[in-house]
Amino acid sequence: MHMIFMVGTAGSGKSSLTATFTRFLEMQREDVMAINLDPGAPSLPYSANVDIRDYIKVEDIMEEYGLGPNGGLVAATDAIKDVVDQVSQDIEDFTPDICIVDTPGQMELFAFRNIGAEVAEKLTDADKGLVYLFDAGFCRDPLNYVMNMFLASAINVRFQLPQFQVFSKVDLLKANELEGMMSWADDSEVLREAVDAKLSGMNREMSEDMLEIIERMGVEFSPIAVSSKTQDGFQVLYSELQRVFTGGEKFTP
Ligand code: GTP
Repeated sequence: MHMIFMVGTAGSGKSSLTATFTRFLEMQREDVMAINLDPGAPSLPYSANVDIRDYIKVEDIMEEYGLGPNGGLVAATDAIKDVVDQVSQDIEDFTPDICIVDTPGQMELFAFRNIGAEVAEKLTDADKGLVYLFDAGFCRDPLNYVMNMFLASAINVRFQLPQFQVFSKVDLLKANELEGMMSWADDSEVLREAVDAKLSGMNREMSEDMLEIIERMGVEFSPIAVSSKTQDGFQVLYSELQRVFTGGEKFTP
């Protein structure tokens, strides 16, 4: 079994990609299932085969501990570790070849606290990977782009799993905007020039400093441009997953 976690900032398109990429994999005749690990999701654009909301309800936690919505979300995300055995058993019952896992909307609750790596570790002993979503509309600005590189690098260090970077929602970009972002990813000098040209003051200084740290962390950035609306890039993402996990074979023989 293989398990791929969708991770990215709030609204970056994790649930949409979970929905559409799972459907795409089904069309490729892969035995795939979708898992929702976001206890705060009010609704989902897919029907989750395993859903953390069956075990954890944010409203109940808010009421029980007298918390507001943010405190409730933090406590609900932490509570995932208490039900990880049940969720793990649910996944075992399906025995799929590949699981696509939607993670909590506020990435910092899952990815920057121990809970994320701990849950990923305990959920299954399957081969695991992460897809990090750069919200392409948001990352047109070099400052946001660099910040996302920084977040993606921090997640890479934290999870220590094969990580695939994607630009999500690329249907929202003009062709030249996408080309520009791709050239930032291909050549760090081009990105530095964009930072110099488009940013000033503290934003420029901070971006330059972050780029230095990112380079030292040595994370590989070969982003794949995808759109859940048009399915652009899905074949490339699928091929990359196959290349890394199955030596180019299908997940379901
Ligand atoms: P939270 O978990 O709530 O933080 O969000 P998320 O990361 O799961 O993002 P979600 O899939 O809910 O998408 C956020 C918004 O972006 C929704 O309005 C989606 O319809 C829209 N969206 C997601 N993917 C795409 C895409 O590929 N193209 C376009 N145009 N819109 C998209």
